[in-house]
Amino acid sequence: MIHFPQECTNGSGSLCHQQTILVTGGAGFIGSHTTLQLLGEGYKVVVIDSLDNSVEESVKRVADLAGENGHNLYFFRVDLRDKDALEVVFSMTKFDAVIHFAGLKAVAESVAKPLFYYRNNMIGTINLLEVMAEHGCKKLVFSSSATVYGQPSSVPCTEDLPLSTTNPYGRTKLFVEEIARDLHIADPEWKIILLRYFNPVGAHPSGLIGEDPRGVPNNLMPFLQQVAVGRRKELTVFGTDYPTKDGTGVRDYIHVMDLATGHIAAVRKLFTPKEIGCTAYNLGTGKGTTVLEIVAAFERASGKKIPLRYADRRPGDCSEIYASTEKAERELQWKAVYTIDDMCRDQWNWASKNPWGYRHPDLANGNRT
Ligand code: NAD
Ligand code: UD1
Repeated sequence: MIHFPQECTNGSGSLCHQQTILVTGGAGFIGSHTTLQLLGEGYKVVVIDSLDNSVEESVKRVADLAGENGHNLYFFRVDLRDKDALEVVFSMTKFDAVIHFAGLKAVAESVAKPLFYYRNNMIGTINLLEVMAEHGCKKLVFSSSATVYGQPSSVPCTEDLPLSTTNPYGRTKLFVEEIARDLHIADPEWKIILLRYFNPVGAHPSGLIGEDPRGVPNNLMPFLQQVAVGRRKELTVFGTDYPTKDGTGVRDYIHVMDLATGHIAAVRKLFTPKEIGCTAYNLGTGKGTTVLEIVAAFERASGKKIPLRYADRRPGDCSEIYASTEKAERELQWKAVYTIDDMCRDQWNWASKNPWGYRHPDLANGNRT
C-alpha cells in the first residue's frame, strides 16, 4: 500500500525536485530522528517503511516537528521485500542518496527465526541495492552496528578490528557490509558509508518522538523506561561478575540526536567530489558506562527508584565495548556532544509523555503478526 499525500505531487504523480534522500525504515527510532534533522537541513525526504516495528504516527509527528519543512516529507508504506513496490517509488522520483535503516533488530528473535531475519534484512537490502543501481542512484549510508566487532579483542574499537558476530541479526549486518564492499569493487561509482552504531538511546528533546519497540524490549534503556512508567515490575541486570568497575557490562551509549547528526555528516560526505569508496565509521561517544551507572543516572532523571533483579550473564554479551571515535571526528568532522545525563533526561521526557509509546495500551505489547 502506498500513501502519497496529494499536495506533495506536481500533478503528474512525480515529486517536485530538489536534493532528495530516500530513508528506508524512517518511521523507526533512529530513522525518525534522522528524518527530522534532514528536513531541518532543507532536504526533501521520502520515507519508506513496512511499519513492521513502527507506526505511521511517528512520521506524522516528525512532519509536525519540522514545521514549514514538514511539506518536504513523503511517506510510502513499502516493504523492501516487495521489489515491485520499490520500483514504483524509484520511478516516481530521482533520489540523490539513500539512508538505509530498514531492518529487524531483535537478537533473540533472530536466533529463533533466522530465515525470517535473513529474508527481511538480506533480501530486502539486495532488492534495494538492485533498484538503486537500475535507477543510477549509487550513494548509500547503511545502518551497521558495533555488533560486527563481536567479542572485541581490544577496546576502544577501531574500524579496522577483525569482524565477527555471534547471532543471525549480527550476521545480517556483517553480510551487508561485505556485499557493500563487493559492490564497490565491482562498480567504483558507488559511494557507501557504513555507520557502526554503538548503543543508541535518548529521544528528541520535545518528547514527541522516541523509541517504541513492539513487544518486550531487548535493550537496556527501553526496558528501564518501561519499569519506570510501571509497565514492568523490575529490571533484570544480566551479569554482575564482569571485570568492570562494578561487575556489570560496559557499553558506549549515544544520544539518538547525536546519531542523527552523524547521518547528516555522512550524507554531506557522500556529496563531496572525493573518492569515498566503501568505508566504515563508528558512531559512539568513546566513553564506557556500566549498567548500574545507567540505572543510577536514570533514577536521577526520573526521580523513580528502579527495582533490580540480579541474574547470570546474557549469552553472547561481551564484558566491555566502546568506540574509537577518531576516524569519524577526522573524516566526517562529527563528534557526539550529549552526556549520559542528557540521554536519561530526554529518555524520561519521552517516556513520561508517552508511557505506552505511540500506541494505545491495548496494542503496545502486541507481537508481530
Ligand atoms: P526500528 O525497529 O525502530 O526501525 C527500523 C524500521 O525498519 C522499523 O520502522 C521497521 O518497521 C522497518 N522495517 C523493518 N523491516 C522492513 C522492511 N523489510 N521493509 C521496510 N521497512 C522495514 O530500529 P532502529 O533502532 O531505528 O534501528 C534502525 C537500524 O539501525 C536497523 O537496521 C538496526 O538494525 C540498526 N541498529 C540499531 C541499533 C539500536 O540499538 N537501535 C544498534 C545498531 C544498529
Ligand atoms: C544488543 C545486542 C546487539 C545489538 C544491540 C542493539 C545482544 C547480545 N547484543 O547489544 O547485537 O546490536 O543490542 O540492538 O543482544 N542489560 C541488562 N538488562 C536488560 C537489558 C540489557 O542488564 O534487560 C545489559 C546487557 O547485559 C548489556 C547492557 O545492558 O551489558 C546493554 O544491553 P543492550 O541494550 O541489550 O545492548 P548490547 O548488549 O550492547
